[in-house]
Amino acid sequence: MSSRGAFTLSLPKTALIGATAIAFASFVSGAAFAADAARGAKVYEEQACNGCHSAKEVLVGPPHCGVVGRKAGSVPGYPYSDVIKASGLTWTEENISQFIESPLTFMSGTNMGFAGLYDEKDRADVIEFLKTERAADSPACK
Ligand code: HEC
Repeated sequence: MSSRGAFTLSLPKTALIGATAIAFASFVSGAAFAADAARGAKVYEEQACNGCHSAKEVLVGPPHCGVVGRKAGSVPGYPYSDVIKASGLTWTEENISQFIESPLTFMSGTNMGFAGLYDEKDRADVIEFLKTERAADSPACK
């Protein structure tokens, strides 16, 4: 194996514990990736984020409209864990990535019952989806 160069195929799917994480591996190609919201929407479904999170409604998890840039644990009326409310975090692309990579590692005691999204591009694309299609002023959030 040559060292990981600019051309990086995303292979570490073995690490994924999600329900149906495999199908989109073949979409990944090319160099330093540009985050892709449309692909992120698919990852969001495949990883069942949407089983627990909607745009505006409270499901098992809090609604995602406006989450990038929002104070963690701040949607009124949603029964957050103490640990997320006390975290003092404001969600950025970077700390959302760390959180969804391994929720319990990043935030011991969180109620988010999700094993983790280990693929870096999957995380970047999901976050791009959150930034665009779950932006506070996006159509889904009006
Ligand atoms: C099994 C249900 C479940 C799944 C699947 C799930 N979440 Fe969550 N999520 C939660 C819960 C519950 C919380 C609240 C955590 C707490 O109170 O500690 C949460 C919180 C969050 C937060 C913080 C929201 C806030 O208002 O502070 C983000 C961001 C988030 N989830 C993103 C995701 C993404 C992205 C995925 C898919 C990769 C995902 N979640 C999958 C249940 C889930």
